[in-house]
Amino acid sequence: MPELEGCTGYKYINETAYHRDTIKETLRPAIAQVDTFKQYPDAEKIELPRNWTLKEARITPLLQKRRSLRKYLMEPISFDELAFILWASQGITGKSGDYSFRTTPSGGALYPVETYFSANFVEDLDPGIYHFDVEKFALDKIRDGDQAEAVASACMNQKFMARSAVTFLWSAVYRRSMSKYGNRGLRYVLLDAGHICQNTLIAAEATGCGGCPVAAFYDDELNALLGLDEKEETMLYAASVGKKIVAEKQCKL
Ligand SMILES: Cc1cc2nc3c(=O)[nH]c(=O)nc-3n(C[C@H](O)[C@H](O)[C@H](O)COP(=O)(O)O)c2cc1C
Repeated sequence: MPELEGCTGYKYINETAYHRDTIKETLRPAIAQVDTFKQYPDAEKIELPRNWTLKEARITPLLQKRRSLRKYLMEPISFDELAFILWASQGITGKSGDYSFRTTPSGGALYPVETYFSANFVEDLDPGIYHFDVEKFALDKIRDGDQAEAVASACMNQKFMARSAVTFLWSAVYRRSMSKYGNRGLRYVLLDAGHICQNTLIAAEATGCGGCPVAAFYDDELNALLGLDEKEETMLYAASVGKKIVAEKQCKL
């Protein structure tokens, strides 16, 4: 539909896509780096306490331990664990009028991000590509067979992804946000994806898993793997998740 294609936000997504054949020629503007930590040398400094008394904060160790994990135990995750992680990422937690609110916030409650995943090593679930039907809390099987290598290859040959139990693949239906907010809606789409990925990673921690977010991929290849209509919906973000290797269960991959 031309009104979307004509938008700055839509052009930005297309102009920043990676393609296997042209990636080497993709020009990056020469932009100077700055320090990671901003300093206010003249400001009064007020130290923060580290001995919080929030004993009920069960989320604290999950946040503390989260690290991008690229080596996984050769063990499946259970179907229950997968369901929990999906629920944590975007599950419906409340209703008001026509709105169904979810575990993650969304600009205007428009929920432009769709969740797919490659099931590589999940108990009681055949390998393949699935779509998460948020409304029905169900899965749609959209591609049969082991797609772990195909996903890793499309993610610029990041081999650790093929050894994960699951790789989550998040796409954006831009129209959902941009029909209301115009070009600014693109910001909201990207922010939504960040919320969803972070919830996924924290839920993964809670199930004895670790994960690694991935944004380096050949857009067209993942779009094709998911069978997306690129005029309406394109890949945004991914994360591989698998069981953590703990000291007594070291496993050489
Ligand atoms: C937007 C984004 C894209 C990323 N893409 C990749 C990626 O393609 N491959 C990868 O191995 N790690 C990727 N990472 C993980 C970062 O390298 C990692 O978050 C960073 O080094 C900080 O380490 P930590 O996550 O362990 O705290 C990505 C992280 C973010 C937030």
